[in-house]
Amino acid sequence: MTSLLLRGRTLTFLRWPDAIDDTAAFRYVEDGGLLIDNGKIVAAGAYADVAAKAVPGTRTVDHRPHLILPGFIDCHAHFPQMQVIASYGAELLEWLNKYTFPEETKFENAQHGRRIARLFLDELIRHGTTSVVAYCSVHKQSAEDFFAESHARDMLNVAGKVMMDRNAPPALTDTPKSGYDDTKALIAEWHGKGRQHVAVTPRFAITSSPAQMEMAGTLMREHPDLHMQTHLSENHAEIAFTCELYPEATDYTDVYARYGLLGPKALFGHSIHLSEREADALSDSGSVAVFCPTSNLFLGSGLFDYQRYRRREKPIRIAAATDVGGGTNYSMLRTMDEGYKVIALNGEKLNPFQSFWQLTRGNAEALSLVDRIGTLDAGTDADIVVLDARATPAMRLRMETVASLAEELFLLQTLGDDRAVREVYVSGKPAKSDLPAA
Ligand code: GUN
Ligand code: ZN
Repeated sequence: MTSLLLRGRTLTFLRWPDAIDDTAAFRYVEDGGLLIDNGKIVAAGAYADVAAKAVPGTRTVDHRPHLILPGFIDCHAHFPQMQVIASYGAELLEWLNKYTFPEETKFENAQHGRRIARLFLDELIRHGTTSVVAYCSVHKQSAEDFFAESHARDMLNVAGKVMMDRNAPPALTDTPKSGYDDTKALIAEWHGKGRQHVAVTPRFAITSSPAQMEMAGTLMREHPDLHMQTHLSENHAEIAFTCELYPEATDYTDVYARYGLLGPKALFGHSIHLSEREADALSDSGSVAVFCPTSNLFLGSGLFDYQRYRRREKPIRIAAATDVGGGTNYSMLRTMDEGYKVIALNGEKLNPFQSFWQLTRGNAEALSLVDRIGTLDAGTDADIVVLDARATPAMRLRMETVASLAEELFLLQTLGDDRAVREVYVSGKPAKSDLPAA
């Protein structure tokens, strides 16, 4: 038996919270319990009720007074870019050529890839993230390394070998055929193995020839249940270059549409500078725009208009992500803190319930995986984060004046980071306390 009973203040979302007083959007239990068996949540609710369902002798972990939430989900990150973070002084295209591409060439080497995959997943867990949608490098080996490490930890992760056959160093290009074959081999070996998901991953239109884009479309037609991830409308120079490379397309989004790459499993990193037509195209197809605030600020890319996308007549589905290593932090708390500021610069606010919805259930919905992750619902996988709003002296002091759950969540987002993450459970097993010291 692998039963475990957790006790603490449980918080899980039922739907998007329309306003800060929309208490019907979430379930918060002051003395809550979670019963976990074989990696799944089997009961959730008031501690006394849940404890009554546990077999005698079930190990209990008392996390009071901390908050117990579903583990955070990061919908866009580049695992080979751990040593790219903090690269100074460039915007997107120069940053790719000067820092990112040279770094990614190292991932031909399996030892390097496995080491970085291990450290990457360690770092995510340390920060409370239990699932990530990851880009690997162009090398099939890098995806093997990532999946091997992810599978060994029983994490639910989505990842793909990057397809790129032009506008990059020769050491970092594949061909339409090899990109297709390698992705097929990864699907055969890893998709559905344990909790692993393979994503079709054309890096972006600039680094894929039309022939390779065709191949990406073919892969999606052959495997319509797979995720597709790429980059869209991040930076003005990128948009102009893309339109030069694909003169027949109406706009950047239309490039992907022409190859059949829009759809409910399609994740478009950044999606900052969309026209109304492009926003309609994403909305009509059910595609997802991925908000990467720390990266968008760091690379000077622009301000993602979160509330405009949500409120338009044809809303766009939105996910949130770190975009490490254009992004500057592994923490989804830090990410949403920067997200709050970006949204404020657009003259809007994102309330703390909306933020924490986004980090958990919202991102799971964006990935069409809410039946598995993103809530504390019975029957879902036991990926859980335990948060301490008094983790640092500054947080402790500020907590003296906090009077509501909304204020506590906002404090966690504004001042919190890995220090506020007391424990993480992956598939029902403690994962953070097991890590080597940072
Ligand atoms: N566009 C294409 N590749 C990348 C990447 O690695 N990072 C970011 N931020 N944008 C990209
Ligand atoms: Zn990216």
